[in-house]
Amino acid sequence: MRIAVIGTGYVGLVTGACLASIGHEVICTDCDEAKIRLLEKGILPIFEPGLDTMVTAEMRKRRLAFTADVRQAVAASDAIFICVGTPPMENGDADLTAIDQVARLIATVSRSPKLVIEKSTVPAQTGQKLKQALKVYSRSAGTHLSVASNPEYLREGTAIDDFLHPERIVIGVEDEAAARDLKEIYRPILDQRFDCPMHESGCPETTKPEWLVTTINSAELIKHASNSFLALKISYANVLAELCEEVDANVDEVTRAVGRDPRIGPHFLQAGLGFGGFCLPKDVQAFLRLAERVGVDFGLLREVERVNKRQIDRMVAKIRQALWVIRGKEIGVLGLAFKPNTDDVRFSPAIELIRRLLMEGASVRAYDPQAMEKARTVLPGVQFCTNEYEVATGTDALIIATEWADFRACDWQRIHATMARPLVLDGRNLLNGQKLRALGFEYDSFGRPDLIAEKMSLAA
Ligand code: UGA
Repeated sequence: MRIAVIGTGYVGLVTGACLASIGHEVICTDCDEAKIRLLEKGILPIFEPGLDTMVTAEMRKRRLAFTADVRQAVAASDAIFICVGTPPMENGDADLTAIDQVARLIATVSRSPKLVIEKSTVPAQTGQKLKQALKVYSRSAGTHLSVASNPEYLREGTAIDDFLHPERIVIGVEDEAAARDLKEIYRPILDQRFDCPMHESGCPETTKPEWLVTTINSAELIKHASNSFLALKISYANVLAELCEEVDANVDEVTRAVGRDPRIGPHFLQAGLGFGGFCLPKDVQAFLRLAERVGVDFGLLREVERVNKRQIDRMVAKIRQALWVIRGKEIGVLGLAFKPNTDDVRFSPAIELIRRLLMEGASVRAYDPQAMEKARTVLPGVQFCTNEYEVATGTDALIIATEWADFRACDWQRIHATMARPLVLDGRNLLNGQKLRALGFEYDSFGRPDLIAEKMSLAA
């Protein structure tokens, strides 16, 4: 099948490159012509491990191409993946303008039957609207345009592995033919039979993904339900951490034991500054809005959001408690991206925290292994440094805002020597507090009160 991918953002680029890597002929298109020109030269607008190599390799094999001519891409394909952005609007609703524009374009251009696959994250019932738009704008009687939903479960930083070795592939369809076509597209992944680009020694031992065929409405709902549940787990862990601080318990010990129960699971229970990025915050909001619109009380999710916002307040309170007065203090921040292994700073808790510190009158110095360029554009007034040691020099406090492994591997003795006051406030519970205290640091994190650490060191 000839495949077109509309939208070369995060999801579109990964989808296009991965589909090409399993053997399909893929053409990616975007209304941003400048971006396409760069992609044609193999220059990617985002940092995602392995993606640049994959894109250039597939372009060389002529299985992946880019064009700014959306019409040409549509006309030349049998299956079209819609991967355009659905950003949050002021009221929390997902903005579906780009989906609507693409639907009208597909309808007017198509002269042969096509399968239109919604991969962008959209609220339930969008597929029905998409179907309607395709029908009313179609200019060629008898051209069958069928619609399917195929939500993505890519995490930034591990997106290629997530695409090629998923636990499940969900497709929402209305007819047998659409299900059959999608199964053909995903066949190499379903059978786990392809040359794995990320692992030279072959694919990791993964079980074959579960193939889940649902209605379109269910598929759309599954995506929002998954991301919202992940957000819920994080907020749950964050309230636990708050509680641990009050009763002198240790949140790491608690979540480790709780997560051993297979009904709960160990993932997404890491306490800290909370969830950010372009997916979890907006999807929780959009899911809430959907519930409101159809008259279902999903107050539980409002609470998830509220707890998440409170994490920044809690961090600022910790900083104030440690520094007494924030105004006029030099504060170093390690980490700007919303999570490690990405350069994405959208809705990053680190950025939000820095804005708050600047508002309080602190001088902020910052460093991130990947996100400096993107952070510069949204954070005027910050001194950007070239490494962790430069950030730490002369500061009254050092904050860990993103859980990069690089920060754990720093020479903390060297950092200690450079700081005006060796105080570390670990917003991601990344470091070993006992070790840092042994080096002479004052150290605080989320849900791991001093008392417990001291007791443990006495016991040891
Ligand atoms: C998320 C989902 O995890 C993916 O399954 C989904 O496909 C994707 O959204 C999407 O909808 O496109 P992503 O946005 O890459 O992926 O980020 P996550 O790994 O989910 O992390 C989100 C945030 O939660 C980060 O700020 C991270 O630091 C934070 N987090 C994560 C915690 O605070 N605690 C945890 O235990 C885990």
